[in-house]
Amino acid sequence: MNWEPGKPLITQSERFIIRSLSAKDAGPIYTSWWNDAEIQKGFNFKPRGWDQQRAAQHIETFDNRKKFHLGIFEKQTKKIIGFFAIWPNYTKKVALTNICIGDKAWWGKGVTLEVRARLLPFIFNTLGMEKVEGEIHGRNLPSIYNYKAMGFTPEAVVREHLISPFGGRVDAYHFGLLKEEWLEMRKAGKL
Ligand SMILES: CC(C)(COP(=O)(O)OP(=O)(O)OC[C@H]1O[C@@H](n2cnc3c(N)ncnc32)[C@H](O)[C@@H]1OP(=O)(O)O)[C@@H](O)C(=O)NCCC(=O)NCCS
Repeated sequence: MNWEPGKPLITQSERFIIRSLSAKDAGPIYTSWWNDAEIQKGFNFKPRGWDQQRAAQHIETFDNRKKFHLGIFEKQTKKIIGFFAIWPNYTKKVALTNICIGDKAWWGKGVTLEVRARLLPFIFNTLGMEKVEGEIHGRNLPSIYNYKAMGFTPEAVVREHLISPFGGRVDAYHFGLLKEEWLEMRKAGKL
């Protein structure tokens, strides 16, 4: 995979180019996802009210070393359809990840499974992580199904761990995949 610490990552899956975003990628489409109520609800946020400059500032906080913000681009049209973020912790060797498919026409089409499967070798082999984890709020059903479909273990329900922007508190669900489990699944041809 074409990457060295601090430099942009670029790779591809069957249908997508996956590459580090830069400030100039903060166009109207990318920015609109931060202001979309349905998408932000998935992240347990209300629409952020960001303009393109604010969205570009967000992208610039990712350094391609300790934080990765990767755009998902459809190969044929070169159009951005979502992003995948990775936060590796080099001390614990555990990486936290999340995904957004901003273009809703791509929901239900296996993007999450394809992109996550492509990035797991980067996370485990290149970054040297020994575990990948995801934290989601307990009402994010598509994410729960996706983690389970990829063999992640539901490790914990952390009760009322998050403040809901809609009032009250919500549970956080933790999913985890160990490197050995991933290797086993690969050996069995499952990933
Ligand atoms: C979360 C997100 C990435 C999922 O998109 P996706 O990968 O296309 O997910 P799908 O719509 O295919 O749903 C995944 C699975 O959950 C199931 N599912 C979705 N909503 C469901 C519901 N309300 N009840 C039961 N099952 C549901 C789907 O049927 C699908 O199962 P299948 O693969 O067996 O058919 C996308 O909705 C998104 O970007 N949301 C906004 C941001 C977000 O929430 N990110 C995740 C937080 S880290």
